[in-house]
Amino acid sequence: MKNEMPDIDVVFDAETIAERIETLAAEIAEKLPENLLVIVVLKGSFVFAADLLRALDRVGMRPTVDFITLSSYGLRTESSGNVELTRDISENVKGRCVMIVDDILDTGRTLAFAKDLMTARGAQAVHSCVLLDKYEKREVSIKADYVGFPIDDFFVVGYGIDMAHLFRSLPFIGVVRKK
Ligand code: IMP
Ligand code: MG
Repeated sequence: MKNEMPDIDVVFDAETIAERIETLAAEIAEKLPENLLVIVVLKGSFVFAADLLRALDRVGMRPTVDFITLSSYGLRTESSGNVELTRDISENVKGRCVMIVDDILDTGRTLAFAKDLMTARGAQAVHSCVLLDKYEKREVSIKADYVGFPIDDFFVVGYGIDMAHLFRSLPFIGVVRKK
């Protein structure tokens, strides 16, 4: 049925996420320049990025925005281990202060790939902001500069984050209940 709730347990509700994003934006504005180049890693972070960018505007930042599509999961719930660049940014990052925005920091490969790419292209600084940090799962030594929430190792969906392309439109973050 169209509006029936799937069996998903809420982990972070919409209000909790919204509050955290306001705080994150204030932290970012304190440290990073007003003319930051925000690079949004698609697809999973599109909802987070939309809210974060507007929160950044409220605290006086005037970022430019570009999008990169990176994929490591395909239709599975485990990282495949290699990161594929399927759509590149169009901005020139040379000399820019960049902040990469992603939904989840898991093994670390995606963020490491994006950071290395921007550094190799001559960005003056490369910062990072993730909504969720699965700190136990790291396979590449990397930390995000700004983290929404640390989480344990379980597969989450909603608020832009998918499972086999489903559940991105949920307004909260949750776990799919096993039947
Ligand atoms: P990493 O390269 O292993 O750090 O993977 C990061 C990417 O994997 C994230 O940007 C997500 O797209 C995806 N991912 C990791 N954990 C989850 C999850 O629990 N649900 C959905 N996607 C996930
Ligand atoms: Mg992703």
